Amino acid sequence: MLNKLFFLAVAISVSFYSCDTAEESSSTVKKSTWSPKMDEPSELAQIMRDLHEEGLQRKASLEKGELFSGSVDNLLKMIAATPTEPHMKGPAFEPHAMAFNASYGAIQSASTVAQQIEAHNNLVKSCVACHTNFCQGPISRIELLYIH
Ligand code: HEC
Repeated sequence: MLNKLFFLAVAISVSFYSCDTAEESSSTVKKSTWSPKMDEPSELAQIMRDLHEEGLQRKASLEKGELFSGSVDNLLKMIAATPTEPHMKGPAFEPHAMAFNASYGAIQSASTVAQQIEAHNNLVKSCVACHTNFCQGPISRIELLYIH
């Protein structure tokens, strides 16, 4: 049991551009560096990469005390976007996407840095909530977006 948990923890910490927590756990994987897979991302994975990149930029900006005004277009495209594997989406996906969209709106309407930090952290929570259901691999990376 403990061994299994340890295996899972290692697998999660090394897999970023994948939901699969087991596939990249071999000893050939370097733990300190990672690079995107070379193959074409799915439509959904591409939206996710954009969101993650934007989250990093927003965090950096807020940590400098500056409001962040960029936004990713067509967020709700994620509802129709094709995932890498069909099982990566299920009936609960759409409600999660809607909740995510509401949190995203709060970021756009924040008028102070403190408000936007709160909205940003709420958004990260909705990333993690959906990922807990559909795509556990990137969760530890997503959690790095939290502003403390
Ligand atoms: C409504 C559900 C949902 C929400 C909300 C969500 N994700 Fe995802 N995410 C997924 C699914 C499903 C995948 C797998 C996509 C695929 O491989 O096709 C994924 C994949 C990813 C990936 C891996 C992409 C790749 O290149 O393989 C990252 C990174 C990621 N999400 C980050 C985020 C971040 C950051 C947020 C919040 C800003 C977020 N996600 C919000 C469901 C969600």
